[in-house]
Amino acid sequence: MIKKLLGALALSLTCTLAFAEGGAHIDRAPDRITNLASLQNGAKLFVNYCLNCHSASSMRYNKLTDLGLTEAEIKKNLLFTGDKVGDLMTIAMTPADAKKWFGSAPPDLSVIARAKSANFGHSGVDYIYTYLRSFYRDTTKKTGWNNVVFPSVAMPNVLWQLEGPRTYTSVQVHQVADAKGAEQWTRTTTVFDESGFPTVKNEPLQGYTGEASSTGRFDSADSKSFHKFESDVADLSNFLGWMAEPAQLLRKQIGVWVMLFLFLFMFVAIRMNHAYWKHVR
Ligand code: HEC
Repeated sequence: MIKKLLGALALSLTCTLAFAEGGAHIDRAPDRITNLASLQNGAKLFVNYCLNCHSASSMRYNKLTDLGLTEAEIKKNLLFTGDKVGDLMTIAMTPADAKKWFGSAPPDLSVIARAKSANFGHSGVDYIYTYLRSFYRDTTKKTGWNNVVFPSVAMPNVLWQLEGPRTYTSVQVHQVADAKGAEQWTRTTTVFDESGFPTVKNEPLQGYTGEASSTGRFDSADSKSFHKFESDVADLSNFLGWMAEPAQLLRKQIGVWVMLFLFLFMFVAIRMNHAYWKHVR
């Protein structure tokens, strides 16, 4: 039994390491999982921007009534493909074609938020929130896009119009061999401009005694539209979190009542304990 538990623990630890993708920092997503207006906005963004390459084949359109939408609203605003409101969120593209076109098949997004959570670390919603905000234009890539969280990803930045123009600056401090083959600490700054053309600057660091490091920074031309974009991405990520476990709304509501009951019961139990033992003590 103990051996089994230790085995499971070791396995979960190795999973955590495998998930440290690109070594990029994962931001915490705003928690909007009980905010129906946010989840509805997330659903709208999802069917408009994601549900042509990605399917969500464990999800039926009419399940969105759990988010406070009526079937008429779903039909009018969220159904484009001639699907019926009771249909699953499937797509016309086959995985084989997708692989041919993109080089890598877009995964089904039904439970992606669970798949992308790290044990003891960030949630899948955090991962998606960070991933969707980490694209930058890069003309050296086939799609014209790159991603800090998932370097050389096969997915283009489909939300680029909402995001607005941005530049990405990466700063790397590392050892580079000079003409004589001697290792020299160097700071390499690469700026990807709004069109994705990189400019690279190398500066030798004399007498540097620190460690190697790699940091990145985004700069948005229009910070107002970028904030709106970030909020939309938060809604979309929370929606994907809800889709991975639609019962969680009910579970959280029940959880609150269970906790209240337990507190009340604890109070009663303490009082009864006192009453029963009063004469013995
Ligand atoms: C043009 C097609 C296309 C569209 C539209 C698209 N994706 Fe993707 N997506 C892909 C492909 C291709 C991959 C696989 C990338 C790879 O493995 O390199 C992918 C991968 C992903 C992944 C997995 C990333 C990982 O770390 O494994 C997530 C999450 C994702 N997409 C979310 C979305 C969301 C959310 C939307 C809507 C805003 C969206 N995608 C729209 C093509 C698309």
